[in-house]
Amino acid sequence: MHPTLLFFPLLASLFLLCRRTHAECQPATCGDLTVRYPFWLGGPDLNRSSSTTSCGHPAFEVWCAGGVASLRGSQILVLGIDYTNSSFVAAHKRVAGGTDGVCRTDLNISSSLALSPFTISSRNRAICFLYYCKSTVPSELGVVNATSVCTRPIYAYLGGSYDRDKPPAIQAGNCTYSYLPVLEAPVNLTPATNYDLLFKEGFLLEWQKNGFGDCDACNASGGQCRYSNDSAAFACVCSDGKQRGRKCTGEYPLAYPLR
Ligand SMILES: *[C@@H]1O[C@H](CO)[C@@H](O)[C@H](O)[C@H]1NC(C)=O
Ligand SMILES: *[C@@H]1O[C@H](CO)[C@@H](O)[C@H](O)[C@H]1NC(C)=O
Ligand SMILES: *[C@@H]1O[C@H](CO)[C@@H](O)[C@H](O)[C@H]1NC(C)=O
Ligand SMILES: *[C@@H]1O[C@H](CO)[C@@H](O)[C@H](O)[C@H]1NC(C)=O
Ligand SMILES: *[C@@H]1O[C@H](CO)[C@@H](O)[C@H](O)[C@H]1NC(C)=O
Ligand SMILES: *[C@@H]1O[C@H](CO)[C@@H](O)[C@H](O)[C@H]1NC(C)=O
Ligand SMILES: *[C@@H]1O[C@H](CO)[C@@H](O)[C@H](O)[C@H]1NC(C)=O
Repeated sequence: MHPTLLFFPLLASLFLLCRRTHAECQPATCGDLTVRYPFWLGGPDLNRSSSTTSCGHPAFEVWCAGGVASLRGSQILVLGIDYTNSSFVAAHKRVAGGTDGVCRTDLNISSSLALSPFTISSRNRAICFLYYCKSTVPSELGVVNATSVCTRPIYAYLGGSYDRDKPPAIQAGNCTYSYLPVLEAPVNLTPATNYDLLFKEGFLLEWQKNGFGDCDACNASGGQCRYSNDSAAFACVCSDGKQRGRKCTGEYPLAYPLR
């Protein structure tokens, strides 16, 4: 047999191996959404125990169900990602999922995002909702009746730029209140405001671009962007199968082997 014929299966299997690991973390789509680093397509069936690297930081794991993307199957839906500005438009299922969202505004979205690396952009406006009002109806200027189809009275107030640590300054009186970010706020709220539409258009979240590795530099050097669970950091996986901290050229492999 000719020596090259012996080599061929070896080369072919090496090629397939490379192809497979390469394809794993390639940009994917979910509906109209392109999911690429730092986001990555995971899912409930992912075998997490079989690997110490994943395609990205756990917080950026997107599950895709029926063309709808969510952060790890949570209530936070991912509607659009702006990779240049490191921001994405999200919506909260509880208020954006039906036709009576305004009746289900009894949550502060920031508390459901408390542990994530994302911040709610100050490009959002804050909308306040007042409910369970005891005895008095809130009379502050700008407070509108948002009761519509709800079984209990709800009042709304449009605040300024969203600030998680600084709720809109409003006399909540004897009411319970919540405040939610919306990206496409109207100039004024009126009794006819369509809150469902505002919630469905979502709100803007931002991430620190340099906090999750420089994928462009890694990719340009021929590597694949991954997240190493062992070092809890970005890892650039190179053609030699080893990880570098940043890119494949001019750097020594990290101490952590790829498993
Ligand atoms: C990744 O690291 C976390 C925290 O150290 C640990 O709880 C988890 O089991 C690890 N996952 C894998 C797949 O090794
Ligand atoms: C997940 O991976 C581990 C380690 O490779 C393996 O033992 C286990 O059988 C796998 N589980 C499934 C459901 O594939
Ligand atoms: C990206 O950010 C810049 C500067 O903040 C802004 O002007 C631009 O509109 C943003 N692009 C998108 C698509 O939001
Ligand atoms: C929302 O946040 C405000 C200010 O932190 C707090 O007073 C209020 O109780 C919260 N509302 C809900 C429904 O958690
Ligand atoms: C608010 O609107 C609801 C119907 O949408 C109405 O039943 C209620 O009387 C209104 N409340 C006030 C204080 O105007
Ligand atoms: C809150 O309710 C109490 C009685 O329940 C009333 O005395 C008080 O004036 C109310 N405060 C406001 C700000 O409406
Ligand atoms: C890496 O670069 C290739 C070729 O330019 C491109 O097709 C691919 O989408 C890039 N991958 C990522 C994760 O940016």
